[in-house]
Amino acid sequence: MNTVKTVRELRAAVARARSEGKQIGLVPTMGNLHSGHTALVTTAAQQADFVVASIFVNPLQFGANEDLDTYPRTLAADQEKLLQAGCHLLFAPSVEEMYPHGMSGLTRVKAAELSNELCGSRRPGHFDGVTTVVSKLFNMVQPDLAIFGQKDYQQLAVIRAMVHDLNMPIQIIGEPTVRADDGLALSSRNGYLSEEQRAVAPALYRHLSEMARAVEAGERDYPALVGQHVAEIEATGFRADYLEVRHARTLLPAHVTDRDVVILVAAYLGSTRLIDNVHLNLDSVL
Ligand code: PAF
Repeated sequence: MNTVKTVRELRAAVARARSEGKQIGLVPTMGNLHSGHTALVTTAAQQADFVVASIFVNPLQFGANEDLDTYPRTLAADQEKLLQAGCHLLFAPSVEEMYPHGMSGLTRVKAAELSNELCGSRRPGHFDGVTTVVSKLFNMVQPDLAIFGQKDYQQLAVIRAMVHDLNMPIQIIGEPTVRADDGLALSSRNGYLSEEQRAVAPALYRHLSEMARAVEAGERDYPALVGQHVAEIEATGFRADYLEVRHARTLLPAHVTDRDVVILVAAYLGSTRLIDNVHLNLDSVL
């Protein structure tokens, strides 16, 4: 696996692969890789002949009071994991390489309206930062397919909308969330948790699973269900940011007749914000 740091080297390596008739798969990441990321690379390697991963902690998607400066940078360990997972090329640019003229006044890709909900309303500008950097990466690599984790459900929906709305000829694949044995969704931010917080953290997925079972069993009073579980989640030590039952595609509040729904949660343990979700297709429930 080669690591390149410039767009010129990236384009040259991808052009070589394409001239050999290879299909290109892209896995965009911010590094500090865990098994959730390596699952993305493994799927990319199954679906494409040449896998490009990127590691770039994108300043454009962090708010002023967020963890841009402390976000873990672990390049050497990440390179080893990518190699093991079957990645062919790593693109690890500097901020100057990605934004040579700085970030103010930059042309940006404005994310679709569904980005205004949920995480978007708590993190203003976040999804515009994501769509801008992802479309830059798409233009640099011009992949046939790109893979993103379903854990970041709204991000995946926003990227799908961007690709659809801007006619980008790229297949977007959503990779199922990888969980620790106790159910906690793997996330680079789990590393911020203290031992005590890490012991509490799996409660989030337990509550999502309980809610999913209730909905599958016919519960449709979503406000009551949410109210009950917010109270229970907070009793375990979280501060809930949101817990919502939404339509899986539009991300608007779920109507009782909706069959394709997603339950999404964001909650703080101390200063660490965790997100998770469970997607339910009620037509497939017996
Ligand atoms: O999910 C992430 O790690 C980031 O938001 C992404 C898609 C790599 C864009 O910076």
